Amino acid sequence: MLYLAADHGGFLLKEEIKKHLDSENIEYIDCGTDSPESVDYALIAKKACDEIVKDKDNRGILCCGTGIGISMAANKVNGIRAACCSDYFSAKFTRLHNDANVLCMGGRVVGAGLACELVDVFLKTGFEGGRHQRRIDQLTDIENAQK
Ligand code: RB5
Repeated sequence: MLYLAADHGGFLLKEEIKKHLDSENIEYIDCGTDSPESVDYALIAKKACDEIVKDKDNRGILCCGTGIGISMAANKVNGIRAACCSDYFSAKFTRLHNDANVLCMGGRVVGAGLACELVDVFLKTGFEGGRHQRRIDQLTDIENAQK
């Protein structure tokens, strides 16, 4: 399942992404926020990411003003590999090389057209594995050492 979440800074972008996903018949669960009223990105990120880590095939699209705060929060959740992207190459290669399960974007950084392109490439690109799996395992080791 695909989970969406945004704070007030990313709310409008999330709504544009939802329209795009609807037009592509891509299912998603919207974890909020539901209005442009101020909310805290860490809490919204946790709500979505706690669901995302329940299945390895789950994905997330998270938005805040810059995409940075919500990506920092997402990466605090064990099992989340969130990438804040504002270009096509990064959105593609964070799937190929980092096996990212969450794409973060800034509603004050990227326009809706570009954001939807980034969502599409992020969702359709697979993980390359091989030497990259070793590096992902090292990330997991870092997480496990904190427990
Ligand atoms: C909220 O004003 C803003 O700080 C937030 O959306 C995000 O950009 C933080 O990284």
